[in-house]
Amino acid sequence: MGQSIILTGDRPTGKLHIGHYVGSLKNRVSMQNAGEHQLFVFLADQQALTDHAKEPEKIRESITEVALDYLAVGLDPKKATIFIQSQIPELSELAMYYMNLVSVARLKRNPTVKTEIAQKDFGESVPVGFFVYPIAQAADITAFKANYVPVGADQAPMIEQTREIVRSFNHTYQTDVLVEPEGIYPDEMSARLPGIDGNAKMSKSMNNGIYLSDDADTVQKKVMSMYTDPNHLRVEDPGQVEGNMVFYYLDVFGKDKQKIAELKAQYSKGGLGDVKVKRYLNDVLQAELEPIRKRRLEYANNIDAVHQMLQEGSNHAREVAAATLDQVKQAMGLHYFN
Ligand code: TRP
Repeated sequence: MGQSIILTGDRPTGKLHIGHYVGSLKNRVSMQNAGEHQLFVFLADQQALTDHAKEPEKIRESITEVALDYLAVGLDPKKATIFIQSQIPELSELAMYYMNLVSVARLKRNPTVKTEIAQKDFGESVPVGFFVYPIAQAADITAFKANYVPVGADQAPMIEQTREIVRSFNHTYQTDVLVEPEGIYPDEMSARLPGIDGNAKMSKSMNNGIYLSDDADTVQKKVMSMYTDPNHLRVEDPGQVEGNMVFYYLDVFGKDKQKIAELKAQYSKGGLGDVKVKRYLNDVLQAELEPIRKRRLEYANNIDAVHQMLQEGSNHAREVAAATLDQVKQAMGLHYFN
């Protein structure tokens, strides 16, 4: 891959949970520590506003919480540029130019936008800002000339649309300033960790998630309440491993694969109680989360330093984006004065 550029981000709409951790954060930290690529990670607050226009304070609070989550898992501002989208006005300017290259019909066909419009029941009342967010996302990606964009599978249409915009721009203005990105997707089991209740989605409103900011007692309580096999009533009964959240989580988080295989065999045969497996899962999770929790608390006690880190990251990101915008305007002939 050479010294390629990797860019990724999250909409800040609440604290991050262990699903985010295995689905993306863990990966980002290993890419950062491999040291082979330039890594940009950002908080997409502008994008979050496209469907939370009336709750700016929620976005504002989430910025700090998610930044704490980032630092807690080991993202390091000395190695990666961590920044806030709204602090880079060049991104909006780029998006304005890209809008001329994308049709309404093409946006309507974007499967992710389509699904979201249906889910949110927007219909014809969809906010324009929301409708065009794939174009803004193309600006985020291209401003940094990202070669790789690690995202969830639901974001594949955004990457595809970005690639189209890049080709269209470079072709229209006979230039090669913009770079076509490639998506990097997580493996299927980690991509969407189900909630502790077995629901396919972990979410705040369903209160079925384990958060990176949860203390040890809270994590333990949540583990002990996890959905297992509703028909496994007595220890000696055979139990179902499939669809059993405790075993799903063990597959994702457990390192001792042989022990897990043995537990599954014993559980299926009968003679292994839920409480025992849950205690084991609790040990596994606590071991993984303890250092994260500790680091999060340290940073939470020094919020000023966290904000300064975000400011420095945003300053650096802004310089990079401004250089690209300059090239883009040159390519379009929008340079009038010396
Ligand atoms: N759409 C992404 C999400 O909802 C967030 C995002 C915005 C993003 N701009 C991006 C991700 C650019 C990667 C690259 O998770």
